[in-house]
Amino acid sequence: MTPRTGTACACTNIALVKYWGKRDADANRPAAGSISLTLAGLVTRTTVTFDRPAGYDCLTLNGAPQTGESLARVSRFLDLVREAAGSRDGASVESANSFPTGSGLASSAAGFAALAVAAARAGDLGLEPTQLSALARRGSGSAARSIFGGFVELRAEGADPRALQLLSETEWDLRMIIAVVGGGSPKAVSSRSGMVHTAQTSPLYPGWLASVPSDLAVARAAILDRDLATLGEVAERSALTMHASAMAARPGLIYFQPTTLALMQAVIELRRRGIAAWFTIDAGPHVKVLTTPEHAAKLAEVLGAVPGVTSVLTSRPGPGAV
Ligand code: DP6
Repeated sequence: MTPRTGTACACTNIALVKYWGKRDADANRPAAGSISLTLAGLVTRTTVTFDRPAGYDCLTLNGAPQTGESLARVSRFLDLVREAAGSRDGASVESANSFPTGSGLASSAAGFAALAVAAARAGDLGLEPTQLSALARRGSGSAARSIFGGFVELRAEGADPRALQLLSETEWDLRMIIAVVGGGSPKAVSSRSGMVHTAQTSPLYPGWLASVPSDLAVARAAILDRDLATLGEVAERSALTMHASAMAARPGLIYFQPTTLALMQAVIELRRRGIAAWFTIDAGPHVKVLTTPEHAAKLAEVLGAVPGVTSVLTSRPGPGAV
């Protein structure tokens, strides 16, 4: 019998070599590759059931019914699954995050990875993980990486870009500390519109894109060698180069808050004192710090004491979507 429902869990991921720009917006193909670490504990769980009339998808997020653009984006994604399944049925989608809502950590990476796996199961598409990755990418570029656990590379090449695993979550035990800044502050410009605006208006965008291939090569080798210092250096410079391109857009996109800068300085100072710590920052004010299991508790304590930090989460490498 054809299953009509599917449930999936996916962890979020944090990019160490950033994705910032598209080759083509319709199929959501990235302009360059990216490398990330999937994080345990920051999980989205989603159930898709094809049980509604055509054209009447519904979506609840943490129990709250959604309308407008967030429902429309999910419906457009489900259209891809319906097309592949040869069906027009509407779906009920229920999704919940394991992490605090309003923390600013809600992620399209975990969200669209879980949606892709759940919808593919509900539509009985029988897809392999790499095919699920390509499908998840249509929802959100970063979601392509959350199909896999541990260290993951999204390759930009090819007609239908997909991610592959570099090391599993059990092959290198690291920690990512997330310092949440200004929980509940007004939402920044989304990654989706921020990267399009940067590509269209920033004179530094070509320089950013040109910097990615060598960062990917260095990061890939550092991961395979378990060379944390080299990986950390690449992660910091990739984030800073991405943000430099965004800041130079017209008008400029500034995701940093004063606390973001204070955290960056704190990480640099801790490193000077011999603590393994390297930061990365996405399209928001929070600072994510890559470190070792031994240094994680000390770092969480110091970063948590920086004025303006509203909470601190510590995560280990997490598994792929199931
Ligand atoms: C800064 O994956 O959210 O987090 O493909 O338009 O949905 P869309 O973008 P999205 O962008 C993530 C940008 C980033 C860096 C990264 O995760 O690589």
